[in-house]
Amino acid sequence: MILADKIITGASELATPQGSTSCAGSDQKKLKVIKDAALAIREDKIVFVGTTEELHQQVQRTEDAIEIDAAGFTLLPGFVDAHTHTVFAGDRSHEFDMRLQGAKYADIAKAGGGILSTVKATREATEEELFQTGMRRLDSMMLHGTTTVEIKSGYGLELETELKQLRVAKLMGEQHPMTVSTTFLGAHEIPKEYRAMEGGEHKYARLVAEEMIPRVAEEELATACDVFTETGVFELESSRIVLDAAKKHGLEVRIHADELSPLGGAELAAEYGALSADHLEFISDAGIEAMAKAGVTAGLLPGTAFFLMLKEYPPARKIIDGGVPVMLATDFNPGSSHCESMPMTLTLACLNMKMSVAEAIVASTLNAAVSLKMGDRIGSLEVGKQADIIILDAPSHFHLVYHFGINQIIGVLKNGDIVVGEEVED
Ligand code: NIG
Ligand code: FE
Repeated sequence: MILADKIITGASELATPQGSTSCAGSDQKKLKVIKDAALAIREDKIVFVGTTEELHQQVQRTEDAIEIDAAGFTLLPGFVDAHTHTVFAGDRSHEFDMRLQGAKYADIAKAGGGILSTVKATREATEEELFQTGMRRLDSMMLHGTTTVEIKSGYGLELETELKQLRVAKLMGEQHPMTVSTTFLGAHEIPKEYRAMEGGEHKYARLVAEEMIPRVAEEELATACDVFTETGVFELESSRIVLDAAKKHGLEVRIHADELSPLGGAELAAEYGALSADHLEFISDAGIEAMAKAGVTAGLLPGTAFFLMLKEYPPARKIIDGGVPVMLATDFNPGSSHCESMPMTLTLACLNMKMSVAEAIVASTLNAAVSLKMGDRIGSLEVGKQADIIILDAPSHFHLVYHFGINQIIGVLKNGDIVVGEEVED
């Protein structure tokens, strides 16, 4: 008999990807669906997944076991949001209003708004302020089913503020039920003071490489390093300066690639064996091929295209058909995607990039987990994995996308603990 201290029974459906490696091509839509499903937990791990009838035959409860009646509900793995900029100060609602009246994101940025205005606010904020607002954002994410999140720095663009953002993100991970993975993004934008200089792009890239990356690595503040590889920001040569230093100091690589122009960021990600190349609105066929060969995950962020009112969404179908594993993330940030909700992201992905519901679920759970090197622990509902589970107030996984714009998540378990919703004791 399997011993369990928490059981969930009678679920209308349980839907999950399987395994600990990413799913590409036709595997992207491989979702195991169990009807009248049940799941058992011992401490922080899943010890049983099957039908309710099987659970009653195979699982024995500890004396004070908790039972959750999931009749009419659907069980899914907790979402893994592997691309966010959650630690920042201020907001850009004014700029949003300007955009609604026709101003362009790039023009606002050129006029000193955009990322640089968030940089100013974040430099001025205390660690406590950043921590408090950051924790509230994590609460909001968790209420929408996210149980693991990646957080990038990048609103400092100078050593002290970059370190401050990363320290705050790490502390948030220690104090909040959600798991936080941190990424250093010192090369998010070229600071104003460097833009004014001859060769400022390269000079700032060298500062990132020579001064910031060694400190981030030494203080173990991040597991990965990201760079905004883009025309007019960090082009290929300056991106390499940053990425070479990241590799040298043992950091994993992630790249903001081919977002606004087809510069070859996807190919660069393949060359460096990046964990992910994200955005990819303008990815080339050669970029798709290179990423497929190198096994780089494509991080697609449909919230950004939606929020910036772009005509171009990333070509998800081409990327999936080209054999590249796709993950979906919110890109939560104050300028280009002000949304913490993974269900909203999935709806945008399905409706605007023609992904199926199954593909979108695999993308936002297992594939995202693998892109954070956590595929062995999270991303699916299987025996031995961490009990990170969401309960959807709906009879099947299709409703997650089909019923849009409202929150159907009525329960979240993180490491086996109920962190959203009420428990029903037996
Ligand atoms: O992922 N591409 C650059 N960075 C962010 C935007 C951040 C901001 O506007 O504050 C992004 O879209
Ligand atoms: Fe981003």
